[in-house]
Amino acid sequence: MTTPTSADIGAARDAALASIGAAQTLDDIARLDAELLGKRGALAMLKSGLGSVESIEDRKAIGRLLNEAQRAVADALAERRGALAVTEREARVAAERLDLTEYVVTPRRGHAHVVTQAWERLEDVFIGLGFVVAEGPEVETDWHNFEALNMPATHPARNEFDTLFVDHAGAPPGTTVLRTHTSPVQIRAMLAGEPPLYLVAPGRVFRRDTPDATHMPVFHQIEGLVIDRDINLGHLAGTIEAFTKAFFGPGFSSRLRPSYFPFTEPSAEFDIRTPSGEWLELGGCGMVHPNVLRAGGIDPEEWSGFAFGFGIDRMARERHQIDDLREMFTGDIRFAEQF
Ligand code: DAH
Repeated sequence: MTTPTSADIGAARDAALASIGAAQTLDDIARLDAELLGKRGALAMLKSGLGSVESIEDRKAIGRLLNEAQRAVADALAERRGALAVTEREARVAAERLDLTEYVVTPRRGHAHVVTQAWERLEDVFIGLGFVVAEGPEVETDWHNFEALNMPATHPARNEFDTLFVDHAGAPPGTTVLRTHTSPVQIRAMLAGEPPLYLVAPGRVFRRDTPDATHMPVFHQIEGLVIDRDINLGHLAGTIEAFTKAFFGPGFSSRLRPSYFPFTEPSAEFDIRTPSGEWLELGGCGMVHPNVLRAGGIDPEEWSGFAFGFGIDRMARERHQIDDLREMFTGDIRFAEQF
């Protein structure tokens, strides 16, 4: 056991203060606290040698010096701990800081796709004219899609629809199709409800077509069907005209041109006239064929009706002067944002 001298105490204190001054973290301080003020610390060791100091006077003086040194070390630890606590908190706050400004900016709002917009506007216009919206399945039986629409298997008009067939559990091959038009909804609506019927049926249709600027294998149509007593061609022409003005604007008008469809007799194509005098072909229409009424369970002696059908994508394309139909279905946000 060495006898402590005031020089030993001073050296131990200075060394302790120096290591406290060099501490960089609160963990360092905790470690130094145990090390410098603990039983194995230099000052404690010196203190345990106190008994070997000869004179009482000297022992008292050395004891006082040791106490002062320990207090100085304890004070220095407390002070450094306080300072480091502040810096550590500041560093943590800086590290955890979240820049909330970007959340404060109102997020950009999206909008409906150009085809959806046309679809919804069409529904609105027809609802305004007193029609209801009907739906049918996209996977159809060939009976609903063709047969019931006065197109038996041998009918040449079937070839015009490049039909996609579906393998369907149990059904004979070639009897389940992806609907080639929205016209089968006419049959479903007649079978499901009682006349009078005033309905439109927008939806997706499918044809085995190679995509190009004006064709897509998946596209959209809207079908119209009216069944009531004493419905005649004048009602059809008037409805088409009212629709044209409501949808395109008062500067537009419409005309019917004789045509042929198996499910209507007589049949017509309808065109619209733009304010600049240009005629655009829009769709097909006609008086519902008696065979179609019968397939729908409706007596042609009692009821008559008209039907029409046209492409929705085409209308969106005309309206926005989109060159290539394929653009509408790429899902490219830069295209979609423009409309
Ligand atoms: N279904 C026909 C097509 O896809 C369009 C059509 C023509 C529908 C005349 C009709 C109609 O309801 O009367 O080409």
